[in-house]
This record gives sequence, C-alpha cells and structure tokens, in this order.
Amino acid sequence: MLSDDAAAALYDLLYPWDTTRRPDDAFYLDLVMAAEAVLDVGCGTGSMLHRARETGHRGRLVGLDPDRAMLDRARRRTDIEWVAGTAADACWAQEFDLVTMTGHAFQCLVDDDELHRSLVAIRAVLRHGGRFAFETRHPQARAWQDWNPANATDVTDPTGRSLRVAHRVESVTGDLVTFTETTSHPDGTILRTDRATLRFLDPPTLNAFLTGTGFIVDAQYGDWHHQLITDTSREIITIARQPGTGVIIPPVATFG
Ligand SMILES: C[S@@+](CC[C@H](N)C(=O)[O-])C[C@H]1O[C@@H](n2cnc3c(N)ncnc32)[C@H](O)[C@@H]1O
Repeated sequence: MLSDDAAAALYDLLYPWDTTRRPDDAFYLDLVMAAEAVLDVGCGTGSMLHRARETGHRGRLVGLDPDRAMLDRARRRTDIEWVAGTAADACWAQEFDLVTMTGHAFQCLVDDDELHRSLVAIRAVLRHGGRFAFETRHPQARAWQDWNPANATDVTDPTGRSLRVAHRVESVTGDLVTFTETTSHPDGTILRTDRATLRFLDPPTLNAFLTGTGFIVDAQYGDWHHQLITDTSREIITIARQPGTGVIIPPVATFG
C-alpha cells in the first residue's frame, strides 16, 4: 500500500518544480513574482509558492487545495497561508492581484455547475483588474492517447525504493477523460491505484464560461513561449482579467 502522504511525496518526485527545465514553471513564476497578492488554486504540494518565497516574494501568498495530504506537504513552509478547500470554496473579497491554477488543476473542474461556481468564486477574490492565469490541455492534441502503461515512469523514492507509475485511460466521453494512475513495485505488485476524470474544454467553450462569468480574456497562448493558439497547439494558456474601475494591470498580449 502507498499512503496518501507517500502519494503526495511521490507527486513531488514525479513533477519537481523546475523553472530551468519546465517552461510552464518559469511562465507562472514570472507572473507570481510581479504580483503583490497571489492565490494559487489547486496548489497541490505548494511548490510554486515555496519557490516564490525562496526567490524573494515579500507579498501575500495563499495556497488553496482540497487534498489534505498535498496540503500537509505544502505546510512545510509556514510563511505562506495554506487553506483547505476547492476553487468554488474561495471566499476572500477582492484581496488578490493574481489567481493561478497550474499543473492542469483547472481540468479537475469537470461539470458545468462546479466550473461556473469556481469561476464566480475566483472572480470575486480578485481585485479590480486582477488576473486569473491557468492552462488546460487543448482537446485537439488528444494528450490522453499517451496515457498508457507503455509510457510508465520509473522513480526511486527517498527510501531508495524503486517505483513504477503508469496511466491507463478507462473512458473518453464527450470532453471527459477518465483514467487510472497505478503505482507498483518493479515486480508488478500494485501499491495503489487512483482514478480521476479531467475535462478537456475547447477554446470557444472555455471562453464562453469565462465571459459568462464576467471575465475578459486578455491573452491566450498555445505554448509557454507566448505563441498564439494554432491547430497543432497542445495547450490553451489563458490570462483572464477581472474588469473593474480600479487600477488595471496592462494585458501581456492581445487575444486574437
Ligand atoms: C495535478 S495537481 C496540480 C498541483 C499544482 N498546482 C502543481 O502545479 O503541481 C491538481 C490539483 O488540483 C486539486 N484539485 C482537485 N479538484 C479541485 C477543485 N475543485 N478546486 C481546487 N483544486 C482542486 C487537487 O487536489 C490537486 O492538488
């Protein structure tokens, strides 16, 4: 068996925060360092906010996540606020300049009602002109086709134990993809299997949700180097703005 705490530790091994090797990490860290007050929704183990503090961020940093074990790892740093809850639970009143959802956490918002309530809550925690930055995998790239045991990842955990992490898609229904993540010993003994469903919204549907909640889509990119979305893009990286009458943060690019 692999405990929830061990699974959270494994997450950090599989997806270490690394701005030199991962352009998505560099993309978000730049935004965080330029904002005074940041809420990271679906913060997981808190790696991005940890790194922001280490890099010298002196403002307010808050991480929000419903997963207790992930949040417990995040709490290793005590100079950041950590709050248990979902995106829809966010209930600060116009306190943040930037809200982020990294690591495709946005795709965990699988039904229309939860997605709408989450966007309403995120909009409400942003100051006038504040921005919501997140990415979702573009459905045209069908990323789930790579989620099969042939692409399993081998890691060595901190105790020196070898582990294999493999994914397997169970169903693709409309824009919902349900898959399992299985962690096993090299001899095939299964330690843990988790099941998850992610939503793959296309740009028009995504933007209808955003504008329907009162966001303005300031910029949308197809990769981490600020290229616009094309018919081969794998990501939809969005910067949406809370419109308002206060200080407006200039957009980084025009949506076109
Ligand atoms: C793939 S992890 C990404 C973690 C982190 N943002 C990163 O970049 O490493 C997705 C996270 O979203 C969280 N999550 C799932 N449903 C959520 C919801 N409704 N609201 C906010 N976070 C959610 C999970 O608990 C998990 O920590």
